[in-house]
Amino acid sequence: MIIAVIGAGKIGEAVARSVAKSPKVSQVLVTRRNLSSLRRPLPKKIQASTDNAAAAKNADVVILAVKAADAKHVLDEISTHTHGKLVISFMAAISLSKLERHLPRAKVVRAMTNMAAIVGEAATAYSPGPNLKSENLETTQFVLGRLGECLELPESQLDAVTALSGSGPAYIAILIDALVTAGLKVGLPRDTAFKLATQTLVGTSKLLRETGMGVTELRDAVTTPAGTTIAGIYELEKGSFRTSVINAVEAATLAAERVAKKFEAEH
Ligand SMILES: NC(=O)c1ccc[n+]([C@@H]2O[C@H](COP(=O)([O-])OP(=O)(O)OC[C@H]3O[C@@H](n4cnc5c(N)ncnc54)[C@H](OP(=O)(O)O)[C@@H]3O)[C@@H](O)[C@H]2O)c1
Repeated sequence: MIIAVIGAGKIGEAVARSVAKSPKVSQVLVTRRNLSSLRRPLPKKIQASTDNAAAAKNADVVILAVKAADAKHVLDEISTHTHGKLVISFMAAISLSKLERHLPRAKVVRAMTNMAAIVGEAATAYSPGPNLKSENLETTQFVLGRLGECLELPESQLDAVTALSGSGPAYIAILIDALVTAGLKVGLPRDTAFKLATQTLVGTSKLLRETGMGVTELRDAVTTPAGTTIAGIYELEKGSFRTSVINAVEAATLAAERVAKKFEAEH
């Protein structure tokens, strides 16, 4: 299988590098305008160029990872080379119907991933267009599965996905930064606090997912009467930690909807 990745930036390059590792993929054709910005060395299977049309023409599957503002130009360039081909778009704010309008004979899928794709631990949601065949779905799951976990959702939920897991690494980075700063406040060296904070996040997520333990069950198991954890939880509740997280995800969802509507109206 030959895969074209149009727009080899942060997400596109992560996708290209992860699919290139599979024996199912013989070649990955990546494009961007400024080739000197690609991380080197590139694996042998990855070939870089600035020619979007040629990459789409020579590929079996086309992946779109440019910013929404660059979408129209790129869609026009590749349109005639995507007939019957699977096209997976990672572009936020570009709806399935818009993709279908610009690529009328392609089999389109809209996906939302996150930065953890770089380390194969992304949370990706995807919505298939209406005319996908089962082999197209299999290929979609293969490509997105290389990036981490993936799940199919209705397109109506993708703005919420953008807000929760698309933007999620930023929220988690802020939480880690807060924990590291807290560690400094209570006398831990910065690198020690960083290791403890990041491993606690990884470990807690693994514990919840692998044992099936509920979140409140885990919280209660760690919280002894008049102990240290409840002293910490009390301060988190006083600072409206959960309300802040809920408000953040809700605000980001509304922002994603606003951006999509503005984009739809302008283009
Ligand atoms: N970053 C995230 O956390 C995240 C999460 C989920 C979804 N997304 C979505 O994924 C897409 C890519 O995001 P990103 O963060 O990877 O952005 P990015 O790093 O800016 O990558 C976009 C790439 O597109 C290239 N590009 C622009 N115009 C082009 C053209 N005409 N032909 C070929 N390549 C072109 C740019 O390189 P040149 O300037 O060299 O051309 C750039 O490297 C966006 O639509 C975004 O909404 C991002």
